[in-house]
Amino acid sequence: MLSLKYKRMLKDRTILITGGGSGIGEALATILSAENKVIINGRNEEKLKKASAAGKHISYYVADLSKPDEIDGLFKRLKADNIVVDVLINNAGVTEPYYIDKKVMTSSQIFEKINTNLSGAIATTQQFIAQADRAASNLIVNISSAIVVFPAPSQLLYFSSKSGLHAFTRLLRYQLKDTNFKVVEVLPQGVDTEMSRGLGFTGKAPLPSTYARKVIRSINKGKIEHAFAGITPARLFNALIPNATLRLVDKMSQKLFKHQ
Ligand SMILES: NC(=O)c1ccc[n+]([C@@H]2O[C@H](COP(=O)([O-])OP(=O)(O)OC[C@H]3O[C@@H](n4cnc5c(N)ncnc54)[C@H](OP(=O)(O)O)[C@@H]3O)[C@@H](O)[C@H]2O)c1
Repeated sequence: MLSLKYKRMLKDRTILITGGGSGIGEALATILSAENKVIINGRNEEKLKKASAAGKHISYYVADLSKPDEIDGLFKRLKADNIVVDVLINNAGVTEPYYIDKKVMTSSQIFEKINTNLSGAIATTQQFIAQADRAASNLIVNISSAIVVFPAPSQLLYFSSKSGLHAFTRLLRYQLKDTNFKVVEVLPQGVDTEMSRGLGFTGKAPLPSTYARKVIRSINKGKIEHAFAGITPARLFNALIPNATLRLVDKMSQKLFKHQ
């Protein structure tokens, strides 16, 4: 039986899920579309078309959130279509191994990746807040990563941008504490998606649908953070023995990811 909190939080909502064409975002969209109006976004229209066909209440808008004009354009289109969003899930993200002295990326590739994971999410959040009905209850869910407490050195750009998103989430929650905006952070770890497969993840990974159900349950219980078991000791190690933690995570990630 669903709790009252669940009904208030994620029922009869209008939910925008960035990066909703695959993986965790797609799974969230499919499940949430049973009781909500869901809008998904991404760059690849074919993926979005397929994902939106999974539920009758899913529509899609193509936009590259690493590009400021496309973020602004997305919200202009939503307004033109008379859509007011009351739940934003900042889920779009990209990662790849990056060793700054070995792999050369163009400056524009570096900007694109950081923009997708961080600046794009911040600009999208600002647009979301500007269009929201401030008298009603609103929810912002930022999907960061377990990497913010397990800093894998091989993922230099990803760690930097997701740590930024983690910091943004914390201060955003503080700034909005006396408003009708609730802020939640989700820190996934090893979910079986295009992203983890692309990194050659060899660990045991839950399906996106299993993970998405847990996230939804946690949000509906009123939690402001959904993370893995063991996050508290991991945070302690980071604070008390940061260099040893880095060495340990580097070793662990070399075992878990084939890309090294
Ligand atoms: N899977 C894991 O184990 C794991 C672990 C930690 C954190 N996460 C986080 O969870 C979130 C979802 O990842 P996932 O595992 O589900 O991977 P995924 O299947 O690769 O999904 C990422 C989505 O982001 C979209 N995207 C990428 N760049 C974009 C851009 N510039 N503008 C708009 N959309 C963009 C992609 O769609 P298009 O290609 O169509 O743009 C894709 O649908 C990410 O933020 C990721 O960092 C995942």
